[in-house]
Order: sequence, then C-alpha cells, then structure tokens
Amino acid sequence: MEFNDVIRARHSVRAFTDQPVSDDQLQALLNLATTAPSWSNPQPYQIAIARGKVLESLRQELPLRFDKLAELQKASMVKKALAWFRKDGIPDGDFRPVVDYPEDLQPRRVATGRGLYELLDIGRQDKQARHEQMRDNFRFFNAPVAIFVFIHEGLGVYSALDAGIFLQNLMLAATDAGLGTCAQGALGLWRSPLEQHFQLPDNYKLLCGLSLGYEADTRINQFRPDRQPLSELLIKEK
Ligand SMILES: Cc1cc2nc3c(=O)[nH]c(=O)nc-3n(C[C@H](O)[C@H](O)[C@H](O)COP(=O)(O)O)c2cc1C
Repeated sequence: MEFNDVIRARHSVRAFTDQPVSDDQLQALLNLATTAPSWSNPQPYQIAIARGKVLESLRQELPLRFDKLAELQKASMVKKALAWFRKDGIPDGDFRPVVDYPEDLQPRRVATGRGLYELLDIGRQDKQARHEQMRDNFRFFNAPVAIFVFIHEGLGVYSALDAGIFLQNLMLAATDAGLGTCAQGALGLWRSPLEQHFQLPDNYKLLCGLSLGYEADTRINQFRPDRQPLSELLIKEK
C-alpha cells in the first residue's frame, strides 16, 4: 500500500474474525513499531501480550468486572461505599478514568458515540444494547491478540506521548499487513487481572490496551467518525 493510503485506511476495528495472527506476523509488526521515536530515546513503555489461554481467561474475567461496575453505577450510596471497601467491581487501573469530560470537547465525543449507535440502530434509551456494545471492549471484540501498554511512571505525560507514537506505528504497520486494530482506553480500567498472568513491573503503569486481528465484514467496522476541520485545529495569531 502507498504510505498515504495506509494512513487513511487505518480505522478502529470493533469486530474481528476468528482467524489467528501468527507469531511471525506479530513479531514483524512489533519490530516495526519499535522504530518509533521517543524523547531522548528511553522508549519508556512495555507491553504485555495476551493470546491463547491467557486471552481467554481475560475474556471471561473482564466482562464480569464491567458488569459489576455497571451494576454499581445504578446502586445506592451504601452499596457503592461497601463495594469500595471490598474493592468489588471498582476499577483498579493505574490512571483514573476521566469522569468530568471537558465541556469544549464533549460535543465531539457525543457525536462519535451517537454516530456509532445510530449505525448499529441502537436507540438512546436502549441501555442494554449500549451496555452490550461497551462490554464487547472487554471481550477484545473477539480479537485473537490483545496488547496491554504500560508506561514508565518516571516521565509523566512524556511516557504517554512516546507510547502513543509507538501505538500509532503499530496500528499503521498492522493496517499495511492487512490486519485491524482498536486502541482501547477501556482496557486500562483493571490492572489486577493482568497481575495474575504477567510479571508486571511496579514502576510501569497500565495506560491502555489494543486489540489486534483480522477485520470482520460487519456493519460496526464501517464506522468512520468525523474529524475537526483545520479551522478548528489551528490556533489563531494575535
Ligand atoms: C488512546 C485511545 C483509546 C481508545 N479507547 C477506545 C475504547 O476504549 N473503545 C473503543 O471502542 N474505541 C476506543 N478508541 C478508538 C477511538 O474511538 C477512535 O480512534 C476514534 O473514534 C476515531 O476513529 P478511528 O480510529 O476509526 O479513526 C480509542 C482510541 C485511542 C487513540
């Protein structure tokens, strides 16, 4: 593929086929991704790759956690406090999910969510269907590979910046190889299930995840949300 075409072709894939990704393929993509630049070249990220049994175990565990969290959101203050105390259903990721979304960015977020649900014919009031759609994040959209991205705690936002460039490299390399990806902040919600399967270094914090595999030919994968026009991107001169 032409480079520009690869950039344009990449999109978030939210339904994967059962086709496996071979070790060689994965290795080749990761080798390409590691050419990413980072500030002073510390490459302040590490990844945990879930496949096979580990992936299946997480595919069982994470949706249950998500269900508990959704239940909690509807529960009374007492139940919430109790759950907090027992650490039951409460996210234990390393970064706090954004609760108060910035007002000026909210319209873009809402438009993207609305666009996705409209494409899927999911109505505003259909909480169950919305829950199922969101829940699919924690099933990795059926992907055969899930990659969890950790960043070194010592470099603050710059670790996240460097990891973002690494991720984009990986997503573009995957697109060029005919594979699909979805970066997923949702996969940063729980760290403890990963502790069961990986030797996670304490000084590396879970940033997000990424599902990888072959794109299924389904409606959800046709979703192409808008981008801001350049006029909104550019900061005006004084
Ligand atoms: C850091 C990051 C986190 C994301 N988290 C999620 C997620 O949890 N679930 C999801 O379905 N999409 C997630 N996305 C995908 C975005 O919704 C998507 O990139 C955006 O809507 C633009 O669409 P496109 O990727 O198809 O171009 C994430 C993307 C990024 C870069």
